[in-house]
Amino acid sequence: MAKLWGGRFTKETNKQVDAFTASIGFDRQLAKEDIEGSLAHVQMLGECGIVSTEEAETIQNGLKTILAKIESGNVEFLTEHEDIHMNIEKMLIDEIGAVGGKLHTGRSRNDQVATDMHLYMRKKTKRLIELVEHVQYALLSQAKENIETILPGYTHLQRAQPISFAHHLMAYFWMFERDKDRLRDSLKRINWLPLGAGALAGTTFPINRKRVAELLDFDFVYPNSMDAVSDRDFVVEALSICSLMMVHMSRLSEELVTWSSQEFQFVELDDAFCTGSSIMPQKKNPDVPELLRGKTGRVFGHLVGMLTVLKGLPLAYNKDMQEDKEGIFDTVNTLEGALDLLAPILETLTVKKDNMRKAVTQDYSNATDMADYLATKGLPFRQAHEVTGKVVLYAIEHGKYLLDLTLDEFREFSSLFEEDIFDILAPENVMRARHSQGGTGPDQIKIQIQLAESKL
Ligand code: ARG
Repeated sequence: MAKLWGGRFTKETNKQVDAFTASIGFDRQLAKEDIEGSLAHVQMLGECGIVSTEEAETIQNGLKTILAKIESGNVEFLTEHEDIHMNIEKMLIDEIGAVGGKLHTGRSRNDQVATDMHLYMRKKTKRLIELVEHVQYALLSQAKENIETILPGYTHLQRAQPISFAHHLMAYFWMFERDKDRLRDSLKRINWLPLGAGALAGTTFPINRKRVAELLDFDFVYPNSMDAVSDRDFVVEALSICSLMMVHMSRLSEELVTWSSQEFQFVELDDAFCTGSSIMPQKKNPDVPELLRGKTGRVFGHLVGMLTVLKGLPLAYNKDMQEDKEGIFDTVNTLEGALDLLAPILETLTVKKDNMRKAVTQDYSNATDMADYLATKGLPFRQAHEVTGKVVLYAIEHGKYLLDLTLDEFREFSSLFEEDIFDILAPENVMRARHSQGGTGPDQIKIQIQLAESKL
């Protein structure tokens, strides 16, 4: 089969080389972006008199016909034509004749593919922003239901201090808020237009890059043609933002797995989002959070893969850069799938408030408040800490929790203890007392929730 670049060649390409170098198997996903870019390019060629207005129109109509055919699944992409760009150009020439060959005037596949990738990243970044907001809405609505739901807060996975479940969930809200911020910020750089850079050095034709930028809604034209065709920073950035988003989803997933275990029994995942065991009839497995956690690995892999592809490349375009695609496509698909499931999992989560509440009566997570109590009465905090530590040790040795002790027992350790210590140590009061800005006290959570709502 004749190649579009076949003029200089005397032999057919080795079949294995065709298969090895072709990207059509995956870059067919860029068909729409490729045609979008071509439509703007040829529009500009017509306006600048580089092709005639009629030719531009014929080419545009041809491209639209091809897009419709692709969308209806009515085309066959050929490995011999290597990639989406040449497959579409070949289809165009077949569709409208030799004039189709004028489309590639003043451009190269190098600035073309870079433009396609920018258009793809823009579309997908906007989609990810939407999806992460769905997760934020889910977190927010669970949080609103659980402002007064008390459970142990942990450090080192040891019971630390009682907190509100809303507070715990809202911590994730803010992680996703930063992710959203990063995605939005990345759009600034995604919105740089490479088209018009040619192969690497610009073009001899009197093109108008600003006009193409306007047609494709880009904010900025790459000022350097070599940078334009060899830049994949925006892909690395997307992979890095997605990696961090996976970290956040993975941490939350880990909590869901733990909380839904027999040992914790703090939450129950909806049946619709769990799976069973082929042998153990009693099992209800949290496969989805587990897979969210597991898929984090492949996303990190794609980030490292892309950084590695780029690190030794001389300017400008190198075929290595074709390796930018599968990783980012897989990453975006993974993120879309993950975010899309996380939102309903959170929405349908059953919160076992009684179990959470019970947990804080069976631990020493109110000990800090005893130390604070003594410190408020004038004992230096370090001494208050020491006294409280001794009370905790005494309680453990006697198989009791702090609230099981009598006032007389307390007073053995310090004469500062009075009847009000029992109120101070009640888990609800322990939680409520943390009303410093950003703390777990209900008044602070309400302020936090208000602020969160203003971000959506
Ligand atoms: N399929 C190629 C890629 O994805 C398109 C650009 C090819 N450019 C070239 N000079 N061979 O990177």
